[in-house]
Amino acid sequence: MLASTGKQRLGEMTDGLIEIRAEATGFVAEIGGVDLVGELSEADFEQIRAAIIRHKVLVFRDQRLDDNSHYAFAQRFGPLEGHVNRSTRLDALPKLQVFGNLDADGKTTGVHPEKGTLVWHTDKSYIATPSLFTILRSPFVARTGGDTLFADMARAYEALEPAASARLEGLRAVHDWKRSREKSDERPATADEIAAAPPVDHPLIRTHPETDARTIYIGNHASHILDWEIAAGEALLAQLEAHATQENFIYRHRWRENDVLMWDNRCTMHCVTAYDAAAERRVVHRAVVQGDRPY
Ligand code: SIN
Repeated sequence: MLASTGKQRLGEMTDGLIEIRAEATGFVAEIGGVDLVGELSEADFEQIRAAIIRHKVLVFRDQRLDDNSHYAFAQRFGPLEGHVNRSTRLDALPKLQVFGNLDADGKTTGVHPEKGTLVWHTDKSYIATPSLFTILRSPFVARTGGDTLFADMARAYEALEPAASARLEGLRAVHDWKRSREKSDERPATADEIAAAPPVDHPLIRTHPETDARTIYIGNHASHILDWEIAAGEALLAQLEAHATQENFIYRHRWRENDVLMWDNRCTMHCVTAYDAAAERRVVHRAVVQGDRPY
């Protein structure tokens, strides 16, 4: 739940003013008074755009999105990207992805799909131009567990000792889809996937292009530090992840039916908490907006 409920007005726009209830930390806001299925006015859209930049994670309650309206809302933020893992693409709209634990008869499989979502990551950091925003809805919500956790990577950066952040300047982390799958004990990457997503390197500390905030850019797709001995790089990444995922940097989203979540991948990490994949039905549909090269 969001702790503080101060209603804010973003900008000078008054047309169809939406409600924005933000956490006291500024990280995460709940957006009310808006129907994502209907015609979203340009003014409302601009307020949502401003809110995602400001709060990093947005929660929309009581939305009745289907795949088409989900897709239509997401693509207002920019072109959507397909996923290297073709098996998760939705047949009718391949730029939407589905992760779920139901078989064709709607029975639980007992297996959480995509184990990599259970560990901290930022979407598609293994490509040269990683994801900008992700927009997620959950047609089947687990009754217990299956929460989505978010870490505020800008606040985590700010909390570093000056000497520590100075040591990180100029370092680059290698992000690798193949290695990321190995680490999360997933089906190995296929030859096609490896060809489509060879390892890339990104600044360990990146600058958010719209706020100039410095953020720690890591997660499970980050395998090691460029030009460092592998073990030393892995140790640094683990240390930074432990720092960034301390309780005070985290928002825990407990899903309700008809929630829509949106986040900015440039300044957050996320993961799903465990649940009983035999007893609970959990399905998410996901749209991802293309991003730019980190700097
Ligand atoms: C994801 O990692 O993008 C999915 C998060 C979730 O299933 O809650």
